[in-house]
Amino acid sequence: MTAARLLARTVRGIESLAAQEIRSLGAVHHTAHREVWWTCARPGPEVLDLRCADDVFLVAATVAGIGHTRADLRLLAKAVATLDAGHVTARRAAFGVFDRPSTVDVSASFLGRRNYTRYDLEDTVGEPLAAALGLAYHSRRDGKPAPPGLSWRLTVTDDRAVLALRIAPKPLHRRDYRRATRPGALHPPLAAAMLRVADPPPGARLLDPFCGTGTIPIEADLPLTAIGTDADPSAIAAATVNGRGSRVAWAVADAGRLPFPAGGIDVVVGNPPWNRQVRPAGALARRPHRFWHELTRVLSPTGRAVLLLPDADHHLAQAERAGLATTDRRPVSLFGAHPEIVTVTPAPTRR
Ligand SMILES: C[S@@+](CC[C@H](N)C(=O)[O-])C[C@H]1O[C@@H](n2cnc3c(N)ncnc32)[C@H](O)[C@@H]1O
Repeated sequence: MTAARLLARTVRGIESLAAQEIRSLGAVHHTAHREVWWTCARPGPEVLDLRCADDVFLVAATVAGIGHTRADLRLLAKAVATLDAGHVTARRAAFGVFDRPSTVDVSASFLGRRNYTRYDLEDTVGEPLAAALGLAYHSRRDGKPAPPGLSWRLTVTDDRAVLALRIAPKPLHRRDYRRATRPGALHPPLAAAMLRVADPPPGARLLDPFCGTGTIPIEADLPLTAIGTDADPSAIAAATVNGRGSRVAWAVADAGRLPFPAGGIDVVVGNPPWNRQVRPAGALARRPHRFWHELTRVLSPTGRAVLLLPDADHHLAQAERAGLATTDRRPVSLFGAHPEIVTVTPAPTRR
């Protein structure tokens, strides 16, 4: 099987973590805004097991000279006319994908002012691609969601267009385990990236004290003891549904009064309820800083916590007052919000 030129799309801010994961499967050429460009020497189904990528695409064509006028779209149409779309599509089989889609859809985006819309871009390439493949074309112009089919992605940056084909039948970030969801449920690739930052050693005791639907402990999927707790019994019910078949232990517990002995946890990973969608409840409703004292108490002296924090300066000041030291900060952008993945450890004086 010949090498494949691939493009992984990620959440903004975790490109380098996705690249780190991808290096186990191929050679990374470069990362860009929400992108990792790489070559996979031996394409196989394991590419679709990548956890930190939102999605992975086969690069089909790059086209230069796409300026801001509608006349430039002719260059794109020409590039599609010379593309062997059947060959590109058939390459998905090397990754273990053997579906028989009946429609083609295209999702386009561009940077900068242009005299055309994303729908003009999509239809310019989508109609001839569908015709070449003998399939129906689904235009997004009327706002109807695309049915499951062959999904192409077109991005135009400066004067360069990249046309790529999604390998999997659905985006990689859409996990099969997520049967139950709730407001504030974490984007799974972001959970995977946080676990990569935490890097729990085999056998570690890992706790998510705000587990909600269970995303983080389920993503952990490592030879470790994973525990998910949440103050809300309905969150634990959702996590139990999602975690069916996993080895995670779930329990109702208030993160202001954790049911663990001092020093009993090696790694904490979580996104606390300090965002727009979910507010702190129980012991943290009036005194959210109690969490930092509990965290300081339950972490082993060599332990660490990796947390997703909005307004990180404010929360880290409280963490430091409770005896924790900040060792790493990584800003991310997700659905218009700009939280940070932060790592805190027991301050050296405590160890
Ligand atoms: C942002 S959500 C976490 C989402 C979770 N990571 C997921 O993927 O579904 C925050 C969670 O904190 C929980 N919570 C609120 N106050 C709490 C407290 N005092 N102790 C423990 N959990 C609490 C909420 O019930 C909610 O499930």
